[in-house]
Amino acid sequence: AHSQVLKGKRFIVTAGGTQEPIDPVRFISNRSSGKMGYALAKAARLLGAEVTLITTKPKLAPKGLKVVPVATTEQLQAAIEARYQQADAVVMAAAPADFRIATPAQQKIKKVAGEDELKLTLVKNPDILATLGKKKQGQFLAGFAAETQDLEVNAQKKLQHKHLDLIIANQVGQPEGGFDSDQNAGKMIFKDGTVQPIALMSKEQMAMVIMTAISERL
Ligand code: PMT
Repeated sequence: AHSQVLKGKRFIVTAGGTQEPIDPVRFISNRSSGKMGYALAKAARLLGAEVTLITTKPKLAPKGLKVVPVATTEQLQAAIEARYQQADAVVMAAAPADFRIATPAQQKIKKVAGEDELKLTLVKNPDILATLGKKKQGQFLAGFAAETQDLEVNAQKKLQHKHLDLIIANQVGQPEGGFDSDQNAGKMIFKDGTVQPIALMSKEQMAMVIMTAISERL
C-alpha cells in the first residue's frame, strides 16, 4: 500500500496529443500517446489524491479515474479552466498543438484535377499553461518540456515564462523514452532552482517519483 500523502488534494492531470481538425475526417496531431499522463494520474490516485484526467485518448485511460475527453487545444483549455479554481495542482503531460487550422472545412476536402498543392493556413493556439500561470491562486503548476535540443536551457525558459512550480525536462526524438515509449527519463527543475535527475525507468515509476516530489511541496 502507498502512503496517502496526497489525501484530500485535487489534481488535474492531462494526457495525449491534441487533434486539430482539417475537415470532418482529418486532423493534425503529434506523437503523444497519453501514457505519461495516464501514469501520472494513476500515481496521484494511489497516493490518495482526487484526480481528474483530461485526455485526448479516453479509451485507453486507466480505470477508476474521473475522465474528461477532449480533442483540441481549445477544448483542453476550457476543460481545465472549468476546474482550475478548485484544483490544488495541475500536471500537464498532454502535448497540445501550438497551432490549429484557421478554418476547418465543413465537408471532406476533395482532390481537384490539375491542382498538385493544397495550402493549409494555421493560426496560433492559446498557451494553456502560460494562461494558468497568470491566474494562479496557490495551485501547484507542473509542466513538461519536450525538447530535441538544449534541454535544460529551454526547460528553464518555459518554467519562468509560464510561472510554473516544476518543469520536467524531457528529451524527445531519440529511440528510448519520450513519445509513445513505455519508458521515460528526464530532469525535474523546481522554481527554487533545485534540479533532480530521473534516470530511464518505466513511466509508472517516473510518475511516482514526480508525484512524490510534488507531495513534498504542496
Ligand atoms: O504521451 P506519451 O506518448 O506518453 O509521451 C509523453 C510526452 C513526451 C508527450 C510527455 O512526457 C511530454 O513531454 N509532454 C509535454 C509535451 C509538450 O507539449 O511539450 P512542450 O515543450 O511543447 O510544452 C511545454 C508545456 O506547456 C507542456 O507541459 C505542455 O503541456 C504545455 N503547453 C504546450 C502548448 C500549449 N499550447 N499549451 C500548453 O499548456
